[in-house]
Amino acid sequence: MEGTIVIKCGGSVLNELSSSFFQSLQALHAQGKNIVIVHGGGPEIGQMLKQLAIESEFVNGLRKTTKEGLDVVEMVLAGKVNKQLVSLLWQYHLPGVGVSGVDGRLLEAAPLDLERLGYVGTVTRVNASFLAHFLRVRYIPVIAPIGCDQNGQKYNINADTAAGAIAKALRAQQLIFVTDVPGVLHNGSLVEYATAEEIEKMIEDGIISGGMIPKVKAALSALSDSLPEVMIVSGKHSFYSEGKLHGTSIQKEAGVC
Ligand SMILES: Nc1ncnc2c1ncn2[C@@H]1O[C@H](COP(=O)(O)OP(=O)(O)OP(=O)(O)O)[C@@H](O)[C@H]1O
Ligand SMILES: [Mg+2]
Repeated sequence: MEGTIVIKCGGSVLNELSSSFFQSLQALHAQGKNIVIVHGGGPEIGQMLKQLAIESEFVNGLRKTTKEGLDVVEMVLAGKVNKQLVSLLWQYHLPGVGVSGVDGRLLEAAPLDLERLGYVGTVTRVNASFLAHFLRVRYIPVIAPIGCDQNGQKYNINADTAAGAIAKALRAQQLIFVTDVPGVLHNGSLVEYATAEEIEKMIEDGIISGGMIPKVKAALSALSDSLPEVMIVSGKHSFYSEGKLHGTSIQKEAGVC
């Protein structure tokens, strides 16, 4: 969709989003851009699972999800975290409307690897026209990444994966991952540009690990002719100035942008 920006807000940074982040959103919205937000909720989910004494482990940055874990993920993500973000947007006069991937059958999902990961889903279809209805009236959809299959079974979808699939389905012109680090780091320094090949190598070498793995993978799979660059930026600081985003730019090949 012409002029659509998909922004993934990491659960890791939701409580620390700077006012300049919301001011950037205001500027983009006022320019007439369609804004879609997908959010994670890692720390909040972790805390609630701990309180309820439900064990949880990560496999390659993905949270292995049991049936009872899935209930908690949905309650925290589609409940507390989603509404927190929507109300924050409204405080900045930004018209947010919260949905999960179950609403409007927005995210159809299938298990990624039931045996190894439990109810972790992969996105099989995005209902882009459902989102288009909101965008047409200038609303900002705020999406909790819970997916559902045709039988009503729900899945926990990594928010980065969901954002990548949504950007692709909407033919977004921009995809931005907002997280708690300034971008991809190598020996403590920011990697400003990385090609698909360089990203693969950094995963192989263990430079990129944990939660950064699904993020860069989602970035790579969203890249296309209409989306030649995906950005990873920090939500703790201003990442947008003089018309430029600051962070890691992931591109298919060197010098695309
Ligand atoms: N090379 C790397 N550069 C930067 N961060 C890295 C790297 N390798 C691993 N990471 C980790 O990835 C984390 C970001 O992913 P994480 O999943 O924790 O956050 P998020 O995706 O923003 O939040 P959520 O998963 O809740 O949506 C960083 O805080 C860092 O610990
Ligand atoms: Mg993450």
